[in-house]
Amino acid sequence: MNLQHNVSLKDYNTFGISAKAESFVSVTTEDELKEALSSIIDSTPFILGGGSNMLLKTDLSGLVIHIALKGIEVFDENADYIWLKVAAGENWHEFVMHCVNLEYGGVENLALIPGNVGTSPVQNIGAYGVELKDTFFSCTAIHRETLAEKTFSLSACKFGYRDSIFKNEAKDAYIITSVTFKLSKTNHKLHTEYGAIQDILKEQKIANPGIKDIAEAVITIRSSKLPDPAVLGNSGSFFKNPVISKTEFLKLQQTHPEIPFYTVDDDFIKVPAGWLIEQAGFKGKRFGDAGVHSKQALVLVNYNNATGAEIWDLAIRIQQEVQQLFNITIQPEVNIIEDRTI
Ligand code: EPU
Repeated sequence: MNLQHNVSLKDYNTFGISAKAESFVSVTTEDELKEALSSIIDSTPFILGGGSNMLLKTDLSGLVIHIALKGIEVFDENADYIWLKVAAGENWHEFVMHCVNLEYGGVENLALIPGNVGTSPVQNIGAYGVELKDTFFSCTAIHRETLAEKTFSLSACKFGYRDSIFKNEAKDAYIITSVTFKLSKTNHKLHTEYGAIQDILKEQKIANPGIKDIAEAVITIRSSKLPDPAVLGNSGSFFKNPVISKTEFLKLQQTHPEIPFYTVDDDFIKVPAGWLIEQAGFKGKRFGDAGVHSKQALVLVNYNNATGAEIWDLAIRIQQEVQQLFNITIQPEVNIIEDRTI
């Protein structure tokens, strides 16, 4: 176990925030993970995956455990499906491209989502009509305190929109070590209903798209709207799209007939937070090194040296302004991390 001290986490979070870890260890095997967990006596370690869905508001005292478990193995297979067991530290996009290249279907719409496989179930990542839960079979996890291993089935994970048991009852209790996906080998169920995907396929005159075509279309759309964290620090959508009652929505539609929306069910409507933030005048605005992306207002960006606290201040301003203008509360989608001893 290679324990380091006073380590900058700038390269370990896609926002590129220079917070420091008092102690840091990167684990590449489950034994190392267990060793790191049992070395802790009186504090809770912070578990770091791909660092793509968090905002580090402060330095972290205590131990940060970076999950770097690697490997993709065939868990099961029949004529129609393959089950792949993927270690938590595998990069999500590389895993998607692995499937696309081998013609395994189900995750192609989720291309280019930053982060690692191990954290993908926590918020049930989703994009362009597909969510992680659609191909999720199970995941294995280690209990932080007892070190017992547990397998969570699809239903046990209680997936919802950007939500799972790991954000609720099981929050901070387990460390996901692998995720098993059920992917199609034939008769792929392609999701092309998203407008921008259809536009690209039409433009390229692709009438019968395959998995690769969809992945490429998604990559084109994402690259045109969402900043590459390697170039401009960000954490994807900073806020969740709020769900409001149909009555509230109809009132809003009277004053803003152009408001985009997704119907959730007979009683509820989801409104794009990006649209609300743009209406509030924040799109493309910059305050020091903290800013709102010019092509997608849902994404907050770090131009270089913004602190987590500065990004958070901007998020609060946006939240308050949207509340005042529309009487809608938008909630962060990213995890806000601050030192537990504060
Ligand atoms: N919109 C604006 N202004 C903006 C941004 C969006 O008016 O600055 C409008 C768009 O014109 C469109 C609507 O809002 O009518 C929806 O925009 P978009 O298609 O970009 O999707 P989104 O609802 O803003 C969600 C996910 C994204 C995912 C896309 C595509 C959430 C919080 N975000 O964004 O996920 O890629 O749909 O499926 O649900 C992420 O989670 O990090 C992420 C990027």
